[in-house]
Amino acid sequence: MPLVYWLREELGLTGTHLGCGKGECGACTVLIDGQPARSCRTTLGEAAGKVVTTIEGLGTPEAPHPVQAAFVEEQAAQCGFCTPGMVVEGAALLARTAQPDLAEVKEALDGHLCRCGSHQRVLKAVMRAGG
Ligand code: FES
Ligand code: FES
Repeated sequence: MPLVYWLREELGLTGTHLGCGKGECGACTVLIDGQPARSCRTTLGEAAGKVVTTIEGLGTPEAPHPVQAAFVEEQAAQCGFCTPGMVVEGAALLARTAQPDLAEVKEALDGHLCRCGSHQRVLKAVMRAGG
């Protein structure tokens, strides 16, 4: 079973979105032992025994992760379908590189698709979160 099905249907963690189901859009991105992974292409067995962090686990409404807060401040979501994957990927980048430059942000988010065309705001939000 793909991890994304388990998260959404068994655990009710519907913040992780299922888009293409083929590893191509990034909407389903979660952290596995701190590394971004596409949960549509990760089986439940592959995730067994590892720490899986979804968008729900990054922060709370009262204490959002800096990337979550920056997405709100920059109004980086339109329909929001791609947003959880973008935020999780951004959080992983900031965990590796506290103050990434624009090229590093673009490289990290390469392969995350947004049908609404929010890419510029997404880049600004991750840059803002990185201070
Ligand atoms: Fe997993 Fe598109 S749903 S990459
Ligand atoms: Fe709609 Fe990205 S905000 S797909």
